[in-house]
Amino acid sequence: MDRIRIVGGHALNGSIEISGAKNAALPLMIASLLTDEALTLENLPRLADVNLLVRILGNHGVDFSINGKRPGEATIAGQTVHLRAERIVDTTAPYNLVSKMRASFWVVAPLLARMGEARVSLPGGCAIGTRPVDLLLMVLERLGAQVDIESGYVIAKAPRGLKGAEIDFPKVTVGGTHTALMAAALAQGSTVIHNPAREPEIVDLADCLIKMGAKIKGAGSPVIEIEGVGRLGGARHAVLPDRIETGTYAMAVAMTGGDVVLKGARPELLQGALDILGHTGAMVSASDEGLRVRRDGGGIDPVDITTEPFPGFPTDLQAQFMALMTMSQGTSRIRETIFENRFMHVSELTRLGARIRLDGDAAIVQGVERLKGAPVMATDLRASVSLVIAALAAEGETLVNRVYHLDRGFEHLEHKLGQCGAEIERLSNPG
Ligand code: UD1
Repeated sequence: MDRIRIVGGHALNGSIEISGAKNAALPLMIASLLTDEALTLENLPRLADVNLLVRILGNHGVDFSINGKRPGEATIAGQTVHLRAERIVDTTAPYNLVSKMRASFWVVAPLLARMGEARVSLPGGCAIGTRPVDLLLMVLERLGAQVDIESGYVIAKAPRGLKGAEIDFPKVTVGGTHTALMAAALAQGSTVIHNPAREPEIVDLADCLIKMGAKIKGAGSPVIEIEGVGRLGGARHAVLPDRIETGTYAMAVAMTGGDVVLKGARPELLQGALDILGHTGAMVSASDEGLRVRRDGGGIDPVDITTEPFPGFPTDLQAQFMALMTMSQGTSRIRETIFENRFMHVSELTRLGARIRLDGDAAIVQGVERLKGAPVMATDLRASVSLVIAALAAEGETLVNRVYHLDRGFEHLEHKLGQCGAEIERLSNPG
């Protein structure tokens, strides 16, 4: 199993190319199931989760091809791919695939909308909590599907097609909103979604669906209106830049010091988090190429945060922000309101010398003057990158084990940080 070795204490200087967003790429790829024509996606990141979804979609009959691939090319710019589900050959998504990646459960909506039936394994729990799908099933039922659960599978049927309806989410859910968008796009009549997720990735999916012929108004606002259409066609769409990757590298620079331009980043996608970063003392500014982040000399000021649905502080940046706060000049309180168990990184950060106390849904972080390298274990995607950030600022060597979590969501992490002066390498097949 691969490990990442980091020797901390180097400032980051240079530029980093921001990849296409994983959390936009996955629903966009799944949307290819809605049409028999080709969906072309530009700027698709090279990630383990993307590769896994290619396999899952392939199982349903989606043909996948990559454009302009030049062997040996060192570029890390996003790839252009074509997905075509000319014929759906199987409406079952089996446990052995869905259990590896929760977002693959979302295939239920396009399969049901296009084929009138879907049989999709329940995804099960994961390291950050129970993560139910009750609201996704509520959406399908509201749109007229009959939904049963048998032997760990959701069996959804709508032999005469889905019908538009009012959907009122009692809780903001990204997956629930993706599900509603994809299902309602092909339903008969109109659907109104109240209290949808407003994340940029929702807007990106809606934009792509509109290019495919869907009639959607209001994505990104508190109410979305969809007028169902009989069929959708092919389209070409560029995946939006990854705001979580952007925020992650911004926090790394804020922690190590230095001056880095995050090329292709769109600051407005994470303005709330960037404002917070500014309060810690980092200098954050939009540039022609994307986003510039600097910190010179001064200490890190403590700032309290609470994770919230967009446009609030994203839960997917909570662990990284906590890493930054471990070396602040004071005490900060980090409250997690989205996921119940998303503090797996606390014990690992403590191994590096951080002083963190858990208090219900909050972590109280008492800044320390220095962290010291140690072997640590990645537990989930965002938690593991928080360990990388802390290790970049720690004295001496840190070995991050179980890096497959990182490969799920961060494209060329070692390369991107290494070219900015970090001492970081991947160790394959340790003896
Ligand atoms: C997506 C993101 C993930 C991010 C999360 C919140 C992808 C691939 N993943 O996950 O990175 O951390 O949004 O921004 O885009 N909930 C229910 N019932 C449901 C569905 C959700 O109670 O049926 C709850 C969840 O347990 C959680 C909250 O709603 O407490 C938000 O979850 P949700 O927005 O659905 O997260 P995901 O879409 O799974």
